[in-house]
Amino acid sequence: MNATASSDPRSPIAGEAAQTASAAWRPGTFALRDAWFPVAHSRDIGAGDSLRFVHGQAFCLRRGSDGVFAEDRRPDAQASGSGAAQRVPAIERYGYVWVWFGDRDNADPGLIPDIPFLHPNKPQPAYATGTAFFDCTYELLLENILDLTHIDYIHNVYSGDAEDAESDDVEFMATSETVTMIRTTRKRPTSRYQREVLGVEAPYQDQSAFTHIFIRSGMCFLHSHYSNAPSMPLMQSNTPESSRLTRANFAFGTQQTDDPAFRRQWPATAAMVAAQDNSVLAPQNPRYVDAPEGADLSTRFDAAGLEFRKRYNALVERQKRGDFSYLSDAEDGSDIAEILKVKRIGSGSRR
Ligand SMILES: [Fe+2]
Repeated sequence: MNATASSDPRSPIAGEAAQTASAAWRPGTFALRDAWFPVAHSRDIGAGDSLRFVHGQAFCLRRGSDGVFAEDRRPDAQASGSGAAQRVPAIERYGYVWVWFGDRDNADPGLIPDIPFLHPNKPQPAYATGTAFFDCTYELLLENILDLTHIDYIHNVYSGDAEDAESDDVEFMATSETVTMIRTTRKRPTSRYQREVLGVEAPYQDQSAFTHIFIRSGMCFLHSHYSNAPSMPLMQSNTPESSRLTRANFAFGTQQTDDPAFRRQWPATAAMVAAQDNSVLAPQNPRYVDAPEGADLSTRFDAAGLEFRKRYNALVERQKRGDFSYLSDAEDGSDIAEILKVKRIGSGSRR
């Protein structure tokens, strides 16, 4: 496999990031803040209280006549006010309830990510959505998502054998808030799932796989294109509830495929794929979270994963200095719909 770091102009990593590259990797020890977190599916929130957590902070969600609202249920938040729970900024968009974790004065709705393959004002069908839990801190889950080799071994039934592919290239791009990885594989043997469930007869696939992660919130977009098999994108929340538990609310972009059987079948594989990942992540977590300062037991063959660590550490350093702002490169002008190669649905225009 050729891992080629892109020399994209959006990656001014030479200075700052090179410095933080050598910094200790301490997942689960710092809560990045001032971000929107898609903590619940809209359809799961009704008139009764629903609790959600971001970095151990409890949010109580409820649907009233004006829509969904959220309250901070920490004891000190209630004590500081009139004794009542404090309202927290909450917005419904893309079929999710988003809460703001951080200083409420900075809660700009424009910071909710653009998700071109989900309708901004309409939830996806129930069969296309769900929730998985991972017994690990969210940084480990994001590394797992960026680690290509695990896909070939753990999810082989769905992905097929990359080792027999004609070529396999990886490039990545990054901003201060995101890491994007694109893997292009030529002439990869058609996977068992594609052969046996989808009935794909072509022996090989050219595949482009996209991974786009948001460092502050943990959210990610995943998408693959196959030359001779259907596919659809996935948004997954990866919300850090604690350093031991990550909640992954997910929604598939079912509108991107014309194959009605695949549209129903593929989202049903999500639980199995999540279980495969969790079987690896759960035992890994204590070795990272409880590791002594400076210890790093990971392998470093994945360039995009290493880039994620640099960018994550850079954000932590800025927030430790009291700087919670978004840098201008986070709005870099590129259209994520073009990068993911998905068609934009709904009336969702780019901000
Ligand atoms: Fe995985």
